Amino acid sequence: MRQWTLEERYRILKGPEDIRDLYDRIQGSFYRQRYHVQPITGLSSDPNGFAFYEGKWHLFYQWCPWGAVHGLKYWYHAVSADLMSWENCGVGIWPDTFFDNKGCHSGSAIASGDDLYFFYTGNHRDENWVRTPFTCAARMNADGKLEKLEKPLFGPRDDYAEHQRDPKIIYVPEKKKYFIFIGAQTLDKKGTALIYESPDLLSGWQFAGQLNVPGYEDFGGMWECPCIVRISGKDVLIFSPQYTTLPGRGNSTNHNVYLIGRMDYDTLTFTPESDFQYLDYGFDFYAAQCCANVEDPDKAILVSWIGLPDNHYPTEEEDWEGSLTLPRELRIRDGRLVQTPVSSIFSFREAELDPDLQPAGADDGAQEDTGRLLVSGAQLPRACELEAVFQDGSADLNLFTRKDGSGGFTIHYDAAARLMTVSRTGMEKRFNENVFETISFSPETDLKKISAFIDSCSVELFINDGEKTFTSHIYPTAEEHHFAVSENARVKVWGLKTTVTDKFVV
Ligand code: FRU
Repeated sequence: MRQWTLEERYRILKGPEDIRDLYDRIQGSFYRQRYHVQPITGLSSDPNGFAFYEGKWHLFYQWCPWGAVHGLKYWYHAVSADLMSWENCGVGIWPDTFFDNKGCHSGSAIASGDDLYFFYTGNHRDENWVRTPFTCAARMNADGKLEKLEKPLFGPRDDYAEHQRDPKIIYVPEKKKYFIFIGAQTLDKKGTALIYESPDLLSGWQFAGQLNVPGYEDFGGMWECPCIVRISGKDVLIFSPQYTTLPGRGNSTNHNVYLIGRMDYDTLTFTPESDFQYLDYGFDFYAAQCCANVEDPDKAILVSWIGLPDNHYPTEEEDWEGSLTLPRELRIRDGRLVQTPVSSIFSFREAELDPDLQPAGADDGAQEDTGRLLVSGAQLPRACELEAVFQDGSADLNLFTRKDGSGGFTIHYDAAARLMTVSRTGMEKRFNENVFETISFSPETDLKKISAFIDSCSVELFINDGEKTFTSHIYPTAEEHHFAVSENARVKVWGLKTTVTDKFVV
């Protein structure tokens, strides 16, 4: 793994020519995504400033141009009319002031009047590398002209640790006020969120207090990227607790969870109505953010980073890494979030393919506890959707296998235990082995259906029409593009069209 000096990581991008060669080289990568937002060069991480504005969806992400490394962060801007076809717009917010001299860190957006307003963390460091996080704001007009507010809205509080960042802006009509939630750490290193309030977007901000979430006073050491959204009259609090392990999540210390409940803005108390849930059960899912200004009381749109802090991925060698998940529609059913891929994806299906299932010989991929596997002779397209509908009982679906059905990214369902086990140990390229390579979890109901959305270096599983989801990076070799499935499944496959233009725009 390449070692980066601070100077290399925090180099300032002077112009497109600085990264043109890098872009040209990366274009040849086998793992460039076809329908997921990805960095033109370097690293993309958290989604930022996701909002519907002037008839379009605006999505930004944390971007470090130089390589797959966390260094000087820009907000890179992409825009879409349908949440699937994304055009690169170049840098949205540059680190070019005293307050954000070492990066424009994560934040959110809200449309109001004619403009789109951004709230982000100015990551300031002094000459001794001491960090001060400022909450900064900027405004973009319909022509795309962006103007930063000269001074931050507020600085950090010294009665909390230096981890105070990732402002999430929300308007609460009952209070006729805006609120900002900031991910934070207390002085005794407990994760929390701080709340600020104001009647106006760009002035009048006051500290309201610390968010109380009964039962969650000691839940991770920092809550990154808090996000609150109202769906069907309930409040959904989403955040990424870190510096702790959680049940069923291997050695990972970075998680993304949600709580459904009620947010009381007078007492600053979020009362959960049930236990926390993982937002996604996969290996690589973090810092999810809901889109602002959607204005449908029964759904929200969510995007997340496919990746985790402190983890390493094979394309780092090629000087790029990361992409964003498919936008997802969130709804509430029976006290849980149900997630489905944004419906416009289905208009990008190509003609249905014949999965060409061939019975395997007894030694040729049979699975002892679920009966015989059927091995597909057909090679899956690099970008495709695979739908498997299962009859009762245990089941297997192994994606990215070799032609003979061996290896792969294996999904096993044990019906008696109602347990799903997903493993990427069968793949040739293995990574983050010390974090986790196998995860087990229980679907809400018996397994009936898996919809897998496959792209060059990622797979997203929607289980039982979105009762649970599972997102993972995956780096199959050219030979690992087949699949195998237990004989109690009916399988359909569609190729998916390329929807990201991946143009060089800086
Ligand atoms: C989450 C995070 C945020 C921060 C950003 C910096 O991945 O650590 O808390 O603002 O990334 O890129």
